[in-house]
Amino acid sequence: MLTAGFLVVSLFALASSKPVARSLQVHETRAAPPSGFVRNGAASSDTVLDLRLALVKNNMDGLIEALYDVSTPSSAKYGQHLTKEEVEAYVAPTAESADAVTSWLSENGVTAKTVSPAGDWLAISIPVSQANEMFDADFSVFTQTDSGSESIRTLSYSIPADLKGHLSFVHPTTTFARASAQLPVKATKYTGSVKKRSTAAEPSACDSYVDPACLQALYGIPTTPATESSNYIGVTGYDDEYANQAALEDFLSEFRTDISDTTTFTVDEIDGGGNDQTQADAGVEANLDTQYTVGIATDVPVVFLSVGEDSSDGVFGFLDTANYFLNLDNPPSVITTSYGSNEEDLSISVAYSLCDAYAQLGARGTSVLFASGDGGVSGSQSSSCTDFVPTFPSGCPYVTSVGATTDFSPETAADFSAGGFSNYWGTPSFQSSQVANYLSYLGSTNSGLYNSSGRGYPDVSAQGVDFIIEYDEDWYTVDGTSCASPTFASVIALVNDQLVAAGKSTLGWLNPFLYENSGALTDITSGDNPGCNTNGFSATTGWDPVTGLGTPIFSSLLSAAGL
Ligand SMILES: *[C@@H]1O[C@H](CO)[C@@H](O)[C@H](O)[C@H]1NC(C)=O
Repeated sequence: MLTAGFLVVSLFALASSKPVARSLQVHETRAAPPSGFVRNGAASSDTVLDLRLALVKNNMDGLIEALYDVSTPSSAKYGQHLTKEEVEAYVAPTAESADAVTSWLSENGVTAKTVSPAGDWLAISIPVSQANEMFDADFSVFTQTDSGSESIRTLSYSIPADLKGHLSFVHPTTTFARASAQLPVKATKYTGSVKKRSTAAEPSACDSYVDPACLQALYGIPTTPATESSNYIGVTGYDDEYANQAALEDFLSEFRTDISDTTTFTVDEIDGGGNDQTQADAGVEANLDTQYTVGIATDVPVVFLSVGEDSSDGVFGFLDTANYFLNLDNPPSVITTSYGSNEEDLSISVAYSLCDAYAQLGARGTSVLFASGDGGVSGSQSSSCTDFVPTFPSGCPYVTSVGATTDFSPETAADFSAGGFSNYWGTPSFQSSQVANYLSYLGSTNSGLYNSSGRGYPDVSAQGVDFIIEYDEDWYTVDGTSCASPTFASVIALVNDQLVAAGKSTLGWLNPFLYENSGALTDITSGDNPGCNTNGFSATTGWDPVTGLGTPIFSSLLSAAGL
C-alpha cells in the first residue's frame, strides 16, 4: 500500500503545475484556543509545518459492523477476526478520493507521503506561508502556559469546496494536545524492608505494598507459564520513558522467585524512540508497565514500543503508534497504554479518527486497553473545574478503559480513578442497560455536570495503589490507573494464551464480551472519585463510572471465554 500511495502522487506530480483557482470553504474552526494556551503572534512564514491529511475512508460503517460481528459472543462470526487486507479494504479511501486530493496537492507543487497502511493518512511538509494560502489559515504560535511549550496551530482553516467528501480533515490545525504523560499520581521511595514473597501471598500480607503475588492471590491469576509465542502484549512508552532491563531482573528476583529473573521484554522503536539502559534514565511509568506485565503474564512475550519525540502526528504519537501496530501482520493480542489526555484537548475529528484506528485493531483481534486517568471526575490529572472533565481515549467505545481500586477486603474504588461520560461519543449499545441502571441510581446527583447521553467509562478496574517497583536502583511504591491497565492487560493475555492453546481465537475487542459476562468480574460497590468540588460518582452495585464492571476473576473469565 505504501508503494501504491507514492505512485499515485508522483503520477499527478507530472501533470500541469498551473494552479487552478478553487473556491475554499471553512472546514474546521474554533473561537479560541482551549484554556491553558495563549496565542503569541504569527508563525514565521518560512517555518516548515508537518501536516497530516485524513482522507475519507470508503466504508468505516462496514468496518464497525464487522467489528461488532467478530466481537459479540452471541454473533455467528464471533472470534473470526479480520486480516490486515480485510481491514484495509474497508478503511482505504476510494481511488476517486485519493486522486482528488493528490491532484490538488500537485497543483500546488506538494508531494505527499502515505503514512498509514490503508492509505487513509497522507503527510505533507510545507512552509507556513504556503499553508496559510492553501488552507486560508492563520498559523500562529501558541504557548502552553504551564509548561511553556510552543506549538503552531490555527483557529480556523478551509479546504477546496470540491474536496468535501474526499478530504476528511487536516491536522494538526485546531487540535491543541497537551503533553501526554499520565504518570502515576504518586511515586514514593519505599524505605521498609522488601520481602521475597512466595506466590501464595495472603491479601493481608499486601498492606505495605502490592506485588505480583498479591494480584495473583486476589484475582486468581495462574503462575504457570504461558505456552503460545504468537500471543504477545504490546506496552507503549512515550516522553523518553525508557524501560530498564536490570531493574526488571531485580524485581523478578524479589517477587517472582518461581521464574527465571532473566525473563524480559523486547523493544521496538518508532519516531526516534530508544531504550537507553542507564538506570537513572529509565521512566517510572515504563518500569512499572514492564515489571507488571512480565511479572504477571508469566512467559507471555512482551514488546515495549518506545515512541520517540520525532512524531509529527500532533497527538502525542498515538496516531503513529496505532498505524505502527496496524501495519504488522501479527499485531499484539493486547496493547496497554498508561497515557492519555482530556477529551476536550482534541478536536472531535482527530478524536474520532484515532478511535477508528482502535476499532481497526479490535477487528484484527487486538484488545486495546488504556488507563482511565488519575483525576477522578476532574479528568486525566487532578484539575480545577466546574463541569466534569471526560478523558481521552476512554470515551472511545473501541478501547477498554481501566479504572483503579485499592484495599483487599473489601476491594474499593481508588479516589483518583477517572470515570464519567464522554461528550464526543454517545452511549454504545453494549453498555446501554448498565449505564441506564446507574443513571437511575444516580437520580439528580451531579445533574448538569456530566453528559448523561455519553459513553460511560471506565469499563473495568484493577488494583492501582502502592504497587512496588524498582526504579533507579531503589524501591518505590506508585499509585495510578497506570498500575491497573498493565494488570488487567496481563490477565487478558493469559486468557488469550489458553484460548490459542485450545485452537480458539483471542478475545479481541473486549467490551461486548465483558458487558455480556459481568459475572466474570468482582463488582466493586464502595468508594467514589471526587473532583470539581464534588464527591464525584459513587461505586455501587453493577457498572459505575468509577470502577466500571469491576475487577477480574481469572477462572470466571476463562469459563466466559468457553474454556
Ligand atoms: C453529550 O453527548 C452527546 C452524545 O455523544 C453529544 O451529541 C452532545 O453534544 C454532548 N453534549 C455536550 C454538551 O457536549
